[in-house]
Amino acid sequence: MISKKMQDALNEQVNKEFYSAYMYLAMSAYCNTLGLPGFANWMRMQYEEEIMHVTKMYDYIMDQGGAIELKTIEKPDQEYGTPLAIFERTLEHEQLVTNLIHRLMDLAVEERDYATQTFLQWYVTEQVEEEANVNDILSPLRMVGDDKGGLMMIDQQLAARMTPTPLPAK
Ligand code: FEO
Repeated sequence: MISKKMQDALNEQVNKEFYSAYMYLAMSAYCNTLGLPGFANWMRMQYEEEIMHVTKMYDYIMDQGGAIELKTIEKPDQEYGTPLAIFERTLEHEQLVTNLIHRLMDLAVEERDYATQTFLQWYVTEQVEEEANVNDILSPLRMVGDDKGGLMMIDQQLAARMTPTPLPAK
């Protein structure tokens, strides 16, 4: 059982995770237009990861007897600039999501909602990984600058990202 306030805050986060998925799918399409299929693949896998974040939170609200409220998803941009700008935007976005998760945790602590604190701990850890993954790509991107050969090498590395492990069936 969760409070109405916690339920509403989690539903809001479901919407933010959907927006993340939407934005990464838009970024994937944009990377394809730049002729960077590896970048497009990485963003497509990130999209799938965000859908997993949505589903996990949706399942938790349901498991706690809460009501699901799916809200309008904001339209993402269609263009994101250079490959470096795309990943700078990605880091900025993940830092925003980290803050949102921390605010949810603040609410769970304030409400002494121990189950939600435990649940959110997974997202706290996940956000550390999300930011680290993006920083690992930003470093070589800053090094290669506009060098086409360097960008092609990074593109090949990003092509190797695999689909995330699916959640167990409910
Ligand atoms: Fe769901 Fe990328 O945070």
